[in-house]
Amino acid sequence: MDMYDYEEFLRSKGIKVNGRGGYGIVYQHPTHKDIVVKVWGSYDYGYESWVKFCMKNQDNPLVPKIHHHSKHGSFNITMLEKLKPLEEVDFCDIRWNKHLSPHFDFEPRGKFCWVSELKAKHEHAKQILKFLKRNIYAHDTALDLHDENVMWRGRGKNRQLVITDPLVS
Ligand SMILES: Nc1ncnc2c1ncn2[C@@H]1O[C@H](COP(=O)(O)OP(=O)(O)O)[C@@H](O)[C@H]1O
Ligand SMILES: [Mg+2]
Repeated sequence: MDMYDYEEFLRSKGIKVNGRGGYGIVYQHPTHKDIVVKVWGSYDYGYESWVKFCMKNQDNPLVPKIHHHSKHGSFNITMLEKLKPLEEVDFCDIRWNKHLSPHFDFEPRGKFCWVSELKAKHEHAKQILKFLKRNIYAHDTALDLHDENVMWRGRGKNRQLVITDPLVS
């Protein structure tokens, strides 16, 4: 069974799509309202190393809480906490960058950030920046930090920025 057969199976069960990106589809978990299920291609090496990093660093508030992760040949299934989108999602809109500023010091020049522009402001951000730099230089991945790959945990004053999908292969 490949990723498309599996997606067809989920569709036939009436399982709802929560979000779609270039490499994966995110579904609402049918029985756990706070969990989403991401189905993604095994060739997305950037996401694979990100998920492994997240699983090892679940105490870092900037990374998503992972509930399950498994590989099925050409695709993977990862269950993670359901997060909320940034409101600013709009092509070319750089205003979303302000949400990164409590964590990273940088001058936003465009919708996408460059790893060389980011300076971590605290330990948790440092841990992430170290991972990103290591991956970008060692593997064939690039930084893909923009408004659709960053989300919110919680609401109001206590909301926390979460980085969901920072690398592209
Ligand atoms: N934890 C989450 N909770 C809710 N929606 C999510 C979550 N993670 C991703 N999404 C939605 O699914 C889309 C695709 O997920 P993403 O991880 O960015 O995969 P891709 O590699 O396909 O870009 C996101 O842009 C977002 O709308
Ligand atoms: Mg994405």
